[in-house]
Amino acid sequence: MATMNRQLVLRQRPKDLLAPGDLEVVETPVPELKDSQALARVKYLSIDPTMRVWMAVDSYLPAVGFGEVMRAIGFAEIEESKSTDFKKGDKVVGLTGLQDYAVVTPGDKRGFHKVPNIPFLSDTAFLGVLGGTGMTAFFGMEIAAPKKGETLVVSAAAGATGSVAGQIGKIQGCRVVGIAGSDDKCKWLTEELGFDAAVNYKHADWKQKLATATPQGIDIDYENVGGEIMHEVLSRMNLFGRVVLCGLISGYTKGDPGMASLSTVLVKRLRVQGFIVLDFASRFMEAATRLGQWKMFGKIKDRETIVEGLEKAPEAINMLFTGGNTGKLMVKV
Ligand SMILES: NC(=O)c1ccc[n+]([C@@H]2O[C@H](COP(=O)([O-])OP(=O)(O)OC[C@H]3O[C@@H](n4cnc5c(N)ncnc54)[C@H](OP(=O)(O)O)[C@@H]3O)[C@@H](O)[C@H]2O)c1
Repeated sequence: MATMNRQLVLRQRPKDLLAPGDLEVVETPVPELKDSQALARVKYLSIDPTMRVWMAVDSYLPAVGFGEVMRAIGFAEIEESKSTDFKKGDKVVGLTGLQDYAVVTPGDKRGFHKVPNIPFLSDTAFLGVLGGTGMTAFFGMEIAAPKKGETLVVSAAAGATGSVAGQIGKIQGCRVVGIAGSDDKCKWLTEELGFDAAVNYKHADWKQKLATATPQGIDIDYENVGGEIMHEVLSRMNLFGRVVLCGLISGYTKGDPGMASLSTVLVKRLRVQGFIVLDFASRFMEAATRLGQWKMFGKIKDRETIVEGLEKAPEAINMLFTGGNTGKLMVKV
């Protein structure tokens, strides 16, 4: 076992994309375990847009403090244990932080839980389709209350959350249209994931393409982006449509996430519901079972973008804001 622990600690709040010096790599001794604690070796780190928010401001969780290890969800393996809850070799998911080793203290706020060995599932699935982003898509689509034949539009559709939300929409009988930032991503959505249409918002005529792809208007907006994309989608909403306000990534590096044109919501009597996936924590097992079945029977496909090396985590976070990932983005430590 290594004696030193590489950690990425927060030194300054980013102004736009992450810049050199916002996170710094430091090395500290691997901690000694106290009674009832276990030591987990981090294998994979989930790279999430909310990390950029955690670096900057208090939101549904307090901002990460200066000098603290950057908060992140990780997949880890127990290497040593003085705990009756975790034994050597157990695989766990929880808020490991961006580091090689995390101390697991049963019952603390970082929510470590064991994950099972399931032959057809890779370890990384517990950070993606069966992890936080899969849960988000599952419960977001529950809020959407889709009906057969309705039109669902998903923004950031080729990302971790959007790609699963759109496929759940297909399973539930919707016409599903994705919005994404490259032709390759759009091709993946229509040719492999079964979306009915996909629109590349980087093409000048994307608004016309969205109109062509949604001839009956839009009943559900699964909103991951905000800004101009949300504005255009809202303008095509049908009466009594639903807007699932999952995320507003286009505002996260600008410090202005509250940019929706909400008068449309009023005029069209739309029901808008924001949510944080943690609200559904008591039902994660139910969602994981359903998502696992869909994955096993090929009804949900997933893709992963894996960046190698803990020290590459800051670059990986930036990829979320420049569209460098398709599907779930992770760092292999
Ligand atoms: N409410 C919750 O509990 C909850 C939980 C998890 C995630 N979320 C939200 O869900 C959204 C997706 O998160 P994720 O983890 O699944 O990330 P992701 O979609 O895998 O990655 C982010 C994607 O967003 C797109 N994007 C970035 N900046 C954009 C911009 N200015 N305009 C249009 N598209 C942009 C990029 O794809 P393109 O190439 O298509 O631009 C990028 O690949 C985020 O808004 C996140 O905050 C919410």
